[in-house]
Amino acid sequence: MNSDVMTARRQVAETGTRLTADGLVLGTAGNISVRVGDLVAISPSSIPYHLVTAEDVSVVDLAGGQVAGLPPSSETPMHLAIYANTDANAVVHHHGLASAAVSTAVSALPPLHYYALQLGGPTRVARYATFGTEELARSVLAALEDRTAALMQNHGAVAHGDTLDRAYDRARLLEWLCNLHIQAHQMGSPRVLSEAELADVTRHKAERAAS
Ligand code: 13P
Repeated sequence: MNSDVMTARRQVAETGTRLTADGLVLGTAGNISVRVGDLVAISPSSIPYHLVTAEDVSVVDLAGGQVAGLPPSSETPMHLAIYANTDANAVVHHHGLASAAVSTAVSALPPLHYYALQLGGPTRVARYATFGTEELARSVLAALEDRTAALMQNHGAVAHGDTLDRAYDRARLLEWLCNLHIQAHQMGSPRVLSEAELADVTRHKAERAAS
C-alpha cells in the first residue's frame, strides 16, 4: 500500500472522531472518504468511529472493488459517483441535526447569509432515496451541480473538496447554515438575500482579491 494511501486512511480515521466530537453524527452515522489516484480510502461500514484504526479504513478502486481494510461504507456508490463527476479529492457525509431537520422541510436552502456562496450558491436538497443505493447517488449528484455541498432529503448532508479539510469545513458550514435557517424562522419570516446582493458579494470578493 503506497504511503499516500496510508496517509489518507489515517486522515479518514482521525476525521471520524472529529465528526463525533463536533456533534455531526451519532453512533456510526455518516461516512468520509479521500481519493488518492485510482483508489479511495473510505470509512468502514457500521463501526463506531473511536474504534476505527487506519488499517481498518477500507480501500476501494473507482469501481467499488475492495482492495484493503474492513467492508466499506454503505454509501460507497455516492462517494464514487462524486469522484467520477467532479474534481473532488474528499467527501464528507453527516447526519447533523439541523441539516437532517431542514432537509425534511425545503427543496433548497434560501440564502439567509452570504456564506451560502462558499458552497457554490444556495444549497439544494437531493430527492429522497434509500441510503446506500445508486438512486441516492444519482439524486445527490444532481443536487451537487455547480455546488460543493447538498442536503439529502430526510437524511443529512454531504460536501466535497479538493482536500479533506476543505470538504469537512464545508460540511460543517452547511450545518451552521441550517441552524441559522431554523433559528431565523423561529423569529418569524427571515429576509432572504437577493441574487443581486449575492452577485455583489462575489464582485466585491473578486475586487479585494485583485487589489
Ligand atoms: P455506513 O456506516 O455504512 O457508512 O452508513 C452510515 C450512513 O450514514 C448511511 O447513510
